[in-house]
Amino acid sequence: MCGIVGIVSKKYNILPSLIDGLKNLEYRGYDSAGVAYFINNNLKIIKEKGTVKNLENKIDFKEKVNIGIAHTRWATHGNANKINAHPHNVNHITIVHNGIIENCNELKKDLKDYNYTFKSNTDTEIACAYLSYCYDQNKNIHMTIERFMDKVKGSYAIALLIDNDDKNIYLLKKESPLIIGLGKDTNYIASDITAILNYTNKYISLDDFQYAKVNYKDILVYNKSGDVLKKKINEYKSKNIVTGKAHYKHYMLKEIIEQKKVISNTIFPYLEKGIKSLLKLPNLTKYNQINIIGCGSAMHAGLVAKYLFREFTNTKCEVFLASEFRYQNNFLTTDTFNIFISQSGETADTLQAAKLIKEKKLDSLGIINAKESSITKVVDTSLYIEVGPEISVASTKAYSAQVAILALLVLSHGYRNKTISSKQTESIINEFKKINVFINKMSNKKDQYKMIAKKIYKEEHAFYIGRGLDYALCMEGSLKLKEVSYIHSEAYAAGELKHGAISLINKNMPVFSSATNDKLNSKTVSNLEEVISRGANVFLITDDKNLIDKSYETIIIPNVSIFLKGILVVIPYQLIAYYTAVLKGTNIDKPKNLAKSVTVE
Ligand code: AGP
Repeated sequence: MCGIVGIVSKKYNILPSLIDGLKNLEYRGYDSAGVAYFINNNLKIIKEKGTVKNLENKIDFKEKVNIGIAHTRWATHGNANKINAHPHNVNHITIVHNGIIENCNELKKDLKDYNYTFKSNTDTEIACAYLSYCYDQNKNIHMTIERFMDKVKGSYAIALLIDNDDKNIYLLKKESPLIIGLGKDTNYIASDITAILNYTNKYISLDDFQYAKVNYKDILVYNKSGDVLKKKINEYKSKNIVTGKAHYKHYMLKEIIEQKKVISNTIFPYLEKGIKSLLKLPNLTKYNQINIIGCGSAMHAGLVAKYLFREFTNTKCEVFLASEFRYQNNFLTTDTFNIFISQSGETADTLQAAKLIKEKKLDSLGIINAKESSITKVVDTSLYIEVGPEISVASTKAYSAQVAILALLVLSHGYRNKTISSKQTESIINEFKKINVFINKMSNKKDQYKMIAKKIYKEEHAFYIGRGLDYALCMEGSLKLKEVSYIHSEAYAAGELKHGAISLINKNMPVFSSATNDKLNSKTVSNLEEVISRGANVFLITDDKNLIDKSYETIIIPNVSIFLKGILVVIPYQLIAYYTAVLKGTNIDKPKNLAKSVTVE
């Protein structure tokens, strides 16, 4: 949701790195940005509405600075403007914050009784005022933080400066992520490792109700009672991932093209020695139902797995939106296995759903990209997708890697359940070993995708229709187009359209579809005929060359097992959305109103 960076160094030259770190976090939110630092023991705060570039233009990089905190915001409380931008300062205390203070109104009322006034309408300023109120009681930061943690409800990752202490940055954490990067005569603070990978890959993760005191040579981590804790030093290892955009114009395109490499990275450990490797995946045979929980694209990856579980393992599988899961009866039993899918591992809805399952002592698994993220600390175990940092807000490589690892999980389950034979299993494993070749084939159809984008980019609405697995893929295709091109689109079960929504079909309206299931394709084509006869402009993705027809544009995918089709069909959807957004000139990597990691409910 928001990005936090802090640096404290022996050297007086941290401003460029502070802003560089902020730029690496801008995908988390880009409504406003700000920085606070000491210069000659005086605190200076600069903040601007809009992107980090706007802030950068206001900074004098000649200033000799060795300690500072910075923030890039995705507005939750209060508009995206300069007044509400972080850092916030109240008396001795200055903070940047990621999260939501749920009892901020109660706190504000109490503080007003003590004559506190507020300039902004953010929960963060209230949190800062409460910290300041507690600190003014005894000038003891340990007691201040302990009191804050006892009183304040909600989620927070806070980096804090005290104006009579220009040597230390203080941190406190509950539910929102916060790490400490270890450098040489310099230590770093960040919401996630991607902010500081240019400076260090060694880091400590704070856990809930822990706080820290950081200067250029020491890092002290405490629990709420003030006991010093021994924390593990992690090392971020991204398998030959190129950070930055390389030669690409946008992270989104880079991450789509990276798929052939990062998906192979993710699944190869489960393929290299055939079935023996596949069986390294968790054994689910003792469960009679698989629940999959996530948000957005992560949930859409679950929909693909749901189809495969039901079709090929004879096991009941349900997919839940994490934001709904906690507020409904899910008939949970010990025979249910719960899979939480999250690229960031920080999505608040998914994290809270995972905590619910943990409280009920039910079995769980995370399929996560960000190591050491909050969800990985709640689930029993995690399967990591090795795709490296996904910077573009629109998820592409993470979604595809989630689909790939879920497909292998289904395959291993079907093999164990004997609903998939050894021969079929080996054959599908061998196809997965060539996944990069198939992905490359799909990524190389750029001219066709650009031609389609040219046909649709002026349209205001689009439909994505399909049956079975193809319907699940429509959900992801539709989200990609909406997110980056701002064209309204809707995913619809192909067979359902005629029961009402077909009234919306107008001349030239784009209708995307995929037909990858011989048993269903003829019905899907009939549904396409229904919309074509009402003027729609149809684009069909299929592996069945017999479906090629002059009345619509056809994108052919390789004829592979259904276990791989989900990954291949979505590539045209990703690239058509991308090229459409290029023609529309939108902010592709940082679409309006969005943030990469939604750490509020
Ligand atoms: C997908 O393109 C979106 N950025 C969004 O739906 C995302 O998938 C969702 O917020 C879940 O994020 P997570 O995978 O980090 O939990």
